[in-house]
Amino acid sequence: MESHLLLCVLLLIPAFASSDFLVTHVRNIKKRNSDNDLVVNGIEIYRMKIDSKVTSRFAHNVITSRAVNRGNIHKEVFFDVELPKTAFITNFSMTIDGITYPGNIKEKEAAKQQYEKAVSRGQTAGLVKASGRKTEKFTVSVNIAAGSKVTFELTYEELLKRHFGKYEMFIKVKPKQLVKDFEIEVNIFEPQGISELEAEGTFITNDLQNVIKKSFSHKKGHISFKPTLDQQRTCENCSQSLLDGDFIVKYDVKRTTPDNLQIVNGYFVHFFAPTNLPKLPKNVIFIIDISGSMSGREIEQTREALLKILDDIKEDDHFNFILFGSDVHIWKETLIKATPENLDEARKFVRSIDTEGMTNLYGGIMKGIDMLNAAHEGNLVPKRSASIIIMLTDGQPNVGISNTQDIQTHVKKAIEGKYTLYNLGFGYGVDYNFLEKMALENKGLARRIYPDSDSALQLQGFYDEVSNPMLLDVELNYPENEIEDVTKNSFKHFYDGSEIVVAGRFRDINQNSLTVDVKGEGANDVLSFTTQQDKEQTAEVFQEQEYIFGDFIERLWAYLTIEQLLEKRIAATGEEKENFTAKALDLSLKYKFVTPLTSMVVTKPEGNENQAAIADKPTEAQARGAPIVAQASPAHYVHASSPTWYTSVDGDPHFIISVPQKEDAICFNINENPGAVLSLINDPVTGITVNGELIGDKKVDNDAKIQNTYFGKLGIANKHLDIKVTVTPEKITIQNETGKTTFTWLDSVTLKQEGLTLIINKKKSLMLSMSSSASFVIVLHQVWKKHPLHKDFLGLYTLESHKLSAQTQGLLGQFFHPIDFTILEIHSGSDPKKPDATMIFKNKELIVTRGWQKDYRRDPEHGIDIPCWFVHNNGAGLIDGVHTDYIVSSLF
Ligand SMILES: *[C@@H]1O[C@H](CO)[C@@H](O)[C@H](O)[C@H]1NC(C)=O
Ligand SMILES: *[C@@H]1O[C@H](CO)[C@@H](O)[C@H](O)[C@H]1NC(C)=O
Ligand SMILES: *[C@@H]1O[C@H](CO)[C@@H](O)[C@H](O)[C@H]1NC(C)=O
Ligand SMILES: *[C@@H]1O[C@H](CO)[C@@H](O)[C@H](O)[C@H]1NC(C)=O
Repeated sequence: MESHLLLCVLLLIPAFASSDFLVTHVRNIKKRNSDNDLVVNGIEIYRMKIDSKVTSRFAHNVITSRAVNRGNIHKEVFFDVELPKTAFITNFSMTIDGITYPGNIKEKEAAKQQYEKAVSRGQTAGLVKASGRKTEKFTVSVNIAAGSKVTFELTYEELLKRHFGKYEMFIKVKPKQLVKDFEIEVNIFEPQGISELEAEGTFITNDLQNVIKKSFSHKKGHISFKPTLDQQRTCENCSQSLLDGDFIVKYDVKRTTPDNLQIVNGYFVHFFAPTNLPKLPKNVIFIIDISGSMSGREIEQTREALLKILDDIKEDDHFNFILFGSDVHIWKETLIKATPENLDEARKFVRSIDTEGMTNLYGGIMKGIDMLNAAHEGNLVPKRSASIIIMLTDGQPNVGISNTQDIQTHVKKAIEGKYTLYNLGFGYGVDYNFLEKMALENKGLARRIYPDSDSALQLQGFYDEVSNPMLLDVELNYPENEIEDVTKNSFKHFYDGSEIVVAGRFRDINQNSLTVDVKGEGANDVLSFTTQQDKEQTAEVFQEQEYIFGDFIERLWAYLTIEQLLEKRIAATGEEKENFTAKALDLSLKYKFVTPLTSMVVTKPEGNENQAAIADKPTEAQARGAPIVAQASPAHYVHASSPTWYTSVDGDPHFIISVPQKEDAICFNINENPGAVLSLINDPVTGITVNGELIGDKKVDNDAKIQNTYFGKLGIANKHLDIKVTVTPEKITIQNETGKTTFTWLDSVTLKQEGLTLIINKKKSLMLSMSSSASFVIVLHQVWKKHPLHKDFLGLYTLESHKLSAQTQGLLGQFFHPIDFTILEIHSGSDPKKPDATMIFKNKELIVTRGWQKDYRRDPEHGIDIPCWFVHNNGAGLIDGVHTDYIVSSLF
């Protein structure tokens, strides 16, 4: 009885963020029944609008979604939006039957308390969270009465950044059902004039191409996309929506001068992007982690990316490679010129890169700095040139100096601001915090390279962004006695196709003109000029009042200031850090930006009995019984090795995390669609991963609020040994470099080969251990063959999980290290047999419910009830991030 309004909006996410997205499976339901196919599970979304106004790169977006409950009973309606980390939510409201409930911005902790109070009182509350990750997710649900209407309205703002010569706006669209009145409208106003404007969608078919209307002239650009119902269908008479993908708007502005200054209401913004400058020669040192934690696939993608990068290196550039495993290896003694012969030799070298041993990151990076110093001192490289260090690592330093704080100190001292350090963190095993701090301290930045099929492209894309420096040491100077609170105004490099933005405010609001001195070192000479602008000139440009939303330059200044304070906070410590935090919090509250320091809460007043609460959700999850299991006797080895501390996932899927020192357990469920593959265990150190693919019941139960799903396939791999084990209720397949062996559940097998022990306990369970690491027990649940609903499925139990590393991630893996919790305020919940309580976990307050989950290791037929504290909403607050972060693209 729930219907999802799912709309993902993504703005300006570089191409490699795609691994963050939800994986969903489209069933193409072919039914046509006039307007009935607008109503899904009783809910009709009759209007959805994404309204975007961009003024001087500052985007103000409003997403409105209107739905009506066409059924005879209450229904829960969900509103989900995905936004990039770079956008700040600024408003959210819900309107139910004509009454608007506005969002209130609060300091994060205060917001959480208000939210949890509201939830425990049985009120509807929406929590807008800035997750601090690449994308942030906003979800709210509301239970509405039959015949009632609800409107959700979300606003967010963002400064569009220029990459490769274009500002890009990236809107991910996914209404999940047909919408009578669907519209995307984008209005752009750029005082410098628009030079080009493009709009495209990944889901746009040939038929839909001309539904995108696009026009621009002078300062104004307009885009609209308004598909009719029939145009939204995946095929004639289909009720499935084809609106599922990315809608991308790209544009650039005219540049008659290298910069542009705008002054409004006592604030100014200064855009700097000179064109037609000669490229600066660059000196690039690639420092590559080849330690054993780099999997075969990662090293292969690194080689592939480096080969592509070599194709782009210019003859004027100098370069070298440094590899670090247990030892540090250099390709050439010094930086060498990128002649065709040298590039050829480099290609051979890159093809030969292979993994080795531990992680001497410190040795690698210091060698790189020494080499650049030597090149400059010996005049081996041009005097005017940009020196860049690009380090790629997937692990944590464990040879040489391994204390990250010490490495940071030494590196900063050695670089002395002379070179830019970029740190690329491959996968999730890295100490990203450390990489980011170290890069920011050395005028660079850090990026995460997501382990996926496009990792090589991500690496290459990053290189393309920083490979064309045009200016060195750019400084934009404003008269100090006139201007205050200016944002960052000195930059190590200016890259081709990018843009430098500085904002600030006048000490005297009545002052109306400003003079700026700009300086930078180009390839051949020093670039230096002065720009002057007054308020009247800007006012003239902004005559088109409808394009000015409020005090946008002030908001742009606040946005930039907060963004930079949050960044400075990363590298700061002690009182300095506290000061940055206090200032960022103050501005976030003042300008109503949802940042990592604030939250927005929407609460409905009490006393409306028709409105059920978000807190109701969990009871549905607990109500589901386990499927019928066929066989009886327990496997002997499970008894023998049954540890006191374990984690497991079984049933549809129930996760149980035991907490031995409390003699208690925490449990949660994950509700995802059949076909989704979940990351259960991922240990970058031992190379062991376990992923599980969900299957559904034989039939879809339209009345069930949440569809039952179970694990139908488990994939256990050891990346270091190149072993992959696939387990389904039918068979067990082991694959290594040399070949594949398959067993069925009818076999009784004890197999021992290099790095792997497998024992199949006929038709019941199997035990698998890999090298000296953790062991797993997989229990086979067979249901009656003619069962109308259920299918056979699998349960996973981990044994000796402490043998996996402390860096292990995944829905189970993150709990392999001792955890603790405190229970407070046990009180009666909606089910008289199951009290609610407040759980304190990692300084967070979670509302939990006492319940039971089944452990089938000893009794695969009936299972044993394990009492546990149930965490609602897919383990929200207990697991790192959100559960959809754990969806992976494939079993291996
Ligand atoms: C937030 O949105 C609501 C609904 O549109 C509106 O009434 C309210 O004024 C907005 N708040 C701000 C601060 O803009
Ligand atoms: C769509 O439905 C109409 C009316 O029921 C029918 O005439 C037509 O053949 C259908 N088209 C397809 C492709 O199924
Ligand atoms: C932090 O702020 C306080 C109060 O404004 C100031 O006195 C102090 O010097 C600041 N400390 C640092 C390290 O910036
Ligand atoms: C690969 O699997 C085969 C068959 O199971 C086995 O005989 C062989 O020893 C395995 N090779 C390695 C390197 O483990």
